[in-house]
Amino acid sequence: MTGTGGQLAQSLAERALLHDGVELVVCGRPQLDLEIPGSAKSAIAAFAPDVVINAAAYTAVDQAEDEPERAFRINGDGAGEVAAAAAAAGAAVIQLSTDYVFDGRSSEPYREDATVNPLGVYGRSKLAGEEQARAANPRHAIVRTAWVYSPFGRNFVRSIMAAAGVRDVLTVVDDQRGSPTSALDLADGLLAMAATGAGWGETFHLAGRGQASWCEFAREIMAQCAVRGLPHVPVEPIRSEDWPTRAARPRNSVLDSGKFERTFGFAMPDWRISARAVVERLAREQAAPAA
Ligand SMILES: NC(=O)c1ccc[n+]([C@@H]2O[C@H](COP(=O)([O-])OP(=O)(O)OC[C@H]3O[C@@H](n4cnc5c(N)ncnc54)[C@H](OP(=O)(O)O)[C@@H]3O)[C@@H](O)[C@H]2O)c1
Repeated sequence: MTGTGGQLAQSLAERALLHDGVELVVCGRPQLDLEIPGSAKSAIAAFAPDVVINAAAYTAVDQAEDEPERAFRINGDGAGEVAAAAAAAGAAVIQLSTDYVFDGRSSEPYREDATVNPLGVYGRSKLAGEEQARAANPRHAIVRTAWVYSPFGRNFVRSIMAAAGVRDVLTVVDDQRGSPTSALDLADGLLAMAATGAGWGETFHLAGRGQASWCEFAREIMAQCAVRGLPHVPVEPIRSEDWPTRAARPRNSVLDSGKFERTFGFAMPDWRISARAVVERLAREQAAPAA
C-alpha cells in the first residue's frame, strides 16, 4: 500500500489485521514520494507485492486550483508510475479515484460507464491518474470513492464535531449531494477485492450506501453527538453560492456501487450506520484519559 498517515492508509493498516492471509506493507514517504519521478519503482520493487493499493494522493481540492502541476504530478504521473512499478514487480494495482471526475449534472447515481467531465484541477488530475494506471498495468482496477471520513486525519466528521465545540450554530451546504464513505468500510471492500484476485481491467464505484447533502450529513453527526452528550448545535442549510470555494464541486456525485457488490459479494453499509460508528469511536477516544 502507498501512503502512511492518510485516512485510507491508516484504515487499511488497521483493517488488514482482521483479514486472514493478508500481509499489508506500508510504503510511504520518504522512500516513496510521488512528487519525485522514479521513486515508486525502487520503493515497490523492494517488497515483491501481489497487489499494490495506491492510497497516496494529493487530496487538497481547493489548493489544487493554485498548484495544478503538483496535483497532476502526484495524482496523474505518480499514479502511472505506481501502476508501472507494480507491473514490473509482477503485481496488480488498485488505483483510488474520486466522484469528482463527474460534473454532477446527472440526477441519478453515477455508474462506472457514465461520462466523466471533472469541474476542477483535482478531478482532472485524478482522471489523469485513472488513464495512466490503465495504460501502465493491464492488471489494474480503478476504484472511485467519495466523501471519505474516518477517525483519522482531516475530514468532514471531525471538522463538524470540532466546530460544534466553538460555535452556536453551523451553516452547511445543502445543494450538493453525495455518498459519505467511511474509510474503514472502504478498506474492508478493497481488502476483500484484493483477496479474490478478480476484477482486473475494470473500473468500480465503492462508496457508502445511500446519499446525503453535506447539511444532512452534518445533522446526522450532530444527532449522534447529542445522543453521546458531546457538543452539538443546530445546523442551518445554505446554498453553494453562499459558501464560495476555490474549486467548483458537482451538485450530485452520488455513486452507484452495485457493480462492486455483484462482482465481489461485498456490500457497503448504510452511511448513517458507519457515521454513527465513527462518531462513537471519536467520542470514546475523547473520553479516554491521556496515556
Ligand atoms: N478524502 C476524500 O473525501 C476522497 C474522496 C474521493 C476519493 N478520494 C481518494 O481516496 C484516496 C485516499 O484518500 P484519503 O482521504 O485517504 O487521503 P488523505 O487522508 O489526504 O491522505 C493522502 C495520503 O497520500 C499521501 N501522499 C500525499 N502526497 C504524497 C506524495 N507526494 N508521495 C507519497 N505519498 C503522498 C499522504 O502521505 P503521508 O502519510 O506521508 O502524509 C497520505 O498518506 C485518494 O486517492 C483520494 O483521491 C478521497
